[in-house]
Amino acid sequence: MAVGVDDFKKALQLWASGVTVVTTSSERYGLQGMTVTAFSSVSANPPQILVCLNQNADTGTGIEESQNFAVNVLSTDQQNVSNQFAGGASQEERFANTNWSVSASGTPFLNDSILSLDCKVVNKVLVGTHWIVIGEIQESVCRDGEPLLYFSGSYRELAEK
Ligand SMILES: Cc1cc2nc3c(=O)[nH]c(=O)nc-3n(C[C@H](O)[C@H](O)[C@H](O)COP(=O)(O)O)c2cc1C
Repeated sequence: MAVGVDDFKKALQLWASGVTVVTTSSERYGLQGMTVTAFSSVSANPPQILVCLNQNADTGTGIEESQNFAVNVLSTDQQNVSNQFAGGASQEERFANTNWSVSASGTPFLNDSILSLDCKVVNKVLVGTHWIVIGEIQESVCRDGEPLLYFSGSYRELAEK
């Protein structure tokens, strides 16, 4: 028998991850973005990654429209950005309070993140409550900085060993 939701959450919070903001821009819905830790590398050749987005998330609707999205890997200085893009602010406020620019394909890049990947949607699968969205990387911009981490329900930073 499958484990319950509480056991699932208790188990999965032991997986330490980075924190990303997935952004998109579409004619119908404008600028949208949301905080996402469910991000993974998939394949180097072709260069593909995946993100898992709740089917109720507005940003997923915008990505369906634009067929493009960016994954912005947050720096330690961007805890506030993570909270805003997790629902702490309206979509308008999220972008008004953040330093961003437009990629070659028109996708919003968060300029203070340590990495921005511009992706074209190549596949999408609904699994349970979430869309697994697979993107092919069209452009990658690396910047200086240390990553913001998330573990056991709290933000963390890298420590020297
Ligand atoms: C640290 C953190 C990680 C999150 N990771 C995900 C995730 O991987 N997938 C997801 O669908 N929502 C995730 N969320 C929740 C969304 O960011 C939040 O529900 C968001 O406001 C929904 O997007 P929308 O504003 O476009 O509807 C996360 C929230 C936090 C604080």
